[in-house]
Amino acid sequence: MTERLLEVKDLRIEIDTRRGPATIVDGINLHVDAGETLGIVGESGCGKSLTMLSLLRLLPNKIRVAGGSAAFQGSDLLKLSPRELRETRGGKIGFVFQDPMTSLNPVMRIGDQLSEPLIHHRGMSKADARKRAGELLRLVGIPGAEARLDAYPHELSGGMRQRVMIGIGLACEPDLLIADEPTTALDVTIQAQIVDLVKDLRKRLGMSVVWITHDLALIAGLADRICVLYAGTVVEDAPAEQLFAGPAHPYTRGLLASIPRMGGAETERLASIGGTPPEPGRRPPGCPFAPRCALAEDICRQVVPKLASMQGGSAAHRVACHVTSRALEAA
Ligand SMILES: Nc1ncnc2c1ncn2[C@@H]1O[C@H](COP(=O)(O)OP(=O)(O)O)[C@@H](O)[C@H]1O
Ligand SMILES: [Mg+2]
Repeated sequence: MTERLLEVKDLRIEIDTRRGPATIVDGINLHVDAGETLGIVGESGCGKSLTMLSLLRLLPNKIRVAGGSAAFQGSDLLKLSPRELRETRGGKIGFVFQDPMTSLNPVMRIGDQLSEPLIHHRGMSKADARKRAGELLRLVGIPGAEARLDAYPHELSGGMRQRVMIGIGLACEPDLLIADEPTTALDVTIQAQIVDLVKDLRKRLGMSVVWITHDLALIAGLADRICVLYAGTVVEDAPAEQLFAGPAHPYTRGLLASIPRMGGAETERLASIGGTPPEPGRRPPGCPFAPRCALAEDICRQVVPKLASMQGGSAAHRVACHVTSRALEAA
């Protein structure tokens, strides 16, 4: 049996606005099994980062968890004591943030930034941590690793900085690595190298990975399973090959149709879907995608569809859509 590592249930996140609290994340359900790589995909602004930040209680000001749970190795991440939280962050769960220029400390040498979690979480001596920091740089493919320990972030290229970030995320050999658009700022060749690196490390270290991206094409060869987010809800959740072979949600179909050609310009805009997602506090009553959906019917504008396995389809393929789940039942 596969072991469940993380199970997020009915996660709700709110933001304070002048008009009162508004929902940003509206009942997210997702899970990650041991050794599995989960891709989380969706347009910019759909709540990918906040969902993951909330699990480590790193939400920005005025944004808070309003409900739900996140079971991880027998405890609820949302209820950890400050001490347990410190042990989990960077220890059991490694995090690679979106932008290495803002998450690496510009005035601290690379070696010290890599050593910090080792001293803090593993109780290593400074000398041992430095030795391990050199090994980590080699692990993430930095040439002349040991010589780079004394470099400052600005002395490295963007790709190298992102590798350092991954090294920090991996320092304590976490059970789960959360990577939030770790390659967005990089050119296509370097992106592919980083994806290959994480694939290789995942196998070698046996960890689970959550890889957040707006780019379905990028994680095609990396994710075992993919969750598609729209306006703070999961609209489809399926093994990767099933999602690519038979996307069920109209939004997922639109995302797939808008994958740019190989070597084409990167775009976050959806060529095939007009309109924009609802703003926080202005969610429509039924399916959040209904206003943009060519298949929407009356029920879609009234009742929020539940994420459920498709009748006659694979149990692992779940979709939240009144129309496509019914079409499959009839088929
Ligand atoms: N610091 C912030 N202040 C105000 N609103 C925010 C902030 N961060 C995120 N949001 C709101 O939350 C939504 C989801 O944000 P986020 O999780 O960062 O999206 P994603 O990572 O999918 O691009 C955004 O559309 C935005 O409206
Ligand atoms: Mg984000």
